[in-house]
Amino acid sequence: MSIILGVTSSIAAYKSLELVSKLLKRGLDVEVIMSENATNFVTPECFSALTKHKTITKTFDKNIHYEVEHISLAKKAEVFALVPATANVIAKIAHGLADDMLTTTFLAADCPKLVAPAMNTKMYENMITQDNLALLKKYGIEIIEPSVGHLACGDTGKGHLADIDDIEDAILQALCPKPLKGQKIVVTAGPTKEKIDPVRFISNHSSGKMGIALARASKHLGAEVTLLLNRDNDLRLPYGIKVERFDSVNDLFELSLKHFAKADGFLMCAAVSDYRVKHYQDEKIKKEAELHLELEKTRDILSYLGAHKKQQKLCGFAMETSKNDLAYAYEKFKHKNCDLLVLNNLKEEGAGFKGDTNIVTLIDAKGHEKLELALKEELGFVIVKRLMGVE
Ligand code: CTP
Repeated sequence: MSIILGVTSSIAAYKSLELVSKLLKRGLDVEVIMSENATNFVTPECFSALTKHKTITKTFDKNIHYEVEHISLAKKAEVFALVPATANVIAKIAHGLADDMLTTTFLAADCPKLVAPAMNTKMYENMITQDNLALLKKYGIEIIEPSVGHLACGDTGKGHLADIDDIEDAILQALCPKPLKGQKIVVTAGPTKEKIDPVRFISNHSSGKMGIALARASKHLGAEVTLLLNRDNDLRLPYGIKVERFDSVNDLFELSLKHFAKADGFLMCAAVSDYRVKHYQDEKIKKEAELHLELEKTRDILSYLGAHKKQQKLCGFAMETSKNDLAYAYEKFKHKNCDLLVLNNLKEEGAGFKGDTNIVTLIDAKGHEKLELALKEELGFVIVKRLMGVE
């Protein structure tokens, strides 16, 4: 897959080297076009050394066939990303100016385009720049918003180039076919936490990784994604999704209800506590010889959703440890009225909570299928596609 990366003259230009290296590691082909001023910050040779392509800077470069170069590059591109984009280049492309190799190729390309601005806060906030960005959005160009940070000019404010991981994710999303465009997917992930007293709680070892992978896959496939995630989860999240946080089973139940009615797909990947203490202690419980906690059952959220579902495709998960795992999982599939149930057994090497891989068995109305050990990131795509019936 071929990506054109346009680099313009911002101090953040050096971060594009990291971006190129990340994209190359994904097996993608990257060609770089720099504005002439950008070469004051990073040399074209730095990019060439990574991409193994000549970095293009001039329209009238004697070593290339300039008559056709911008058109052939533009045709080849599957994504055009402008990182970092200065106020100047944003103004030019918003108005169709094409006075160098970068802007000419940008205008000629009809693939998905992304623009990641980086500039001084005042320049970014200026109505002229904001109007230009609004124009680009109107033309279907995705703007990867800059973040707030300490800027090279000494100011602190919005204008800092977005996180490189987010930009990479946005580029990968742009490359992916979008069979779920227009659909709403909700994913729950991570453990619930039930307070015992102000100091202690009941929870489990769930890391939330599988759920985050499902949210990422759903977003890549074009869905509008809401991730309901445990509050203290600090893992990196996919670019462009909505996130709402929960602590207790009750919080998660409320949030699930809030989003369920409009969802097309709902994946209940959170590890929900089955019990909570009957009487929460307002003061720290002091130690004694023995402590007996009275527990009561929490609400089974998935069963509730299964009993009330209409258009929603519902996916449940079963975390088992026993040899009887398949029978237990079939039981959950039926009782909780799921369209798909994903079984994983904690005792299998490579499966379970913390790692980056999993071994799952998919159960649906047709039967079950055990998949081989795979990265959670890859399994996310398989599960979401299977649930939503897309390829
Ligand atoms: N689940 C839920 N609400 C609960 C407990 C579980 O929504 N109170 C959901 C989980 O998110 C998962 C599925 O039900 O999608 C199965 O969860 P699991 O813990 O494997 O099974 P349980 O129904 O809790 O049964 P057991 O603990 O006896 O295995």
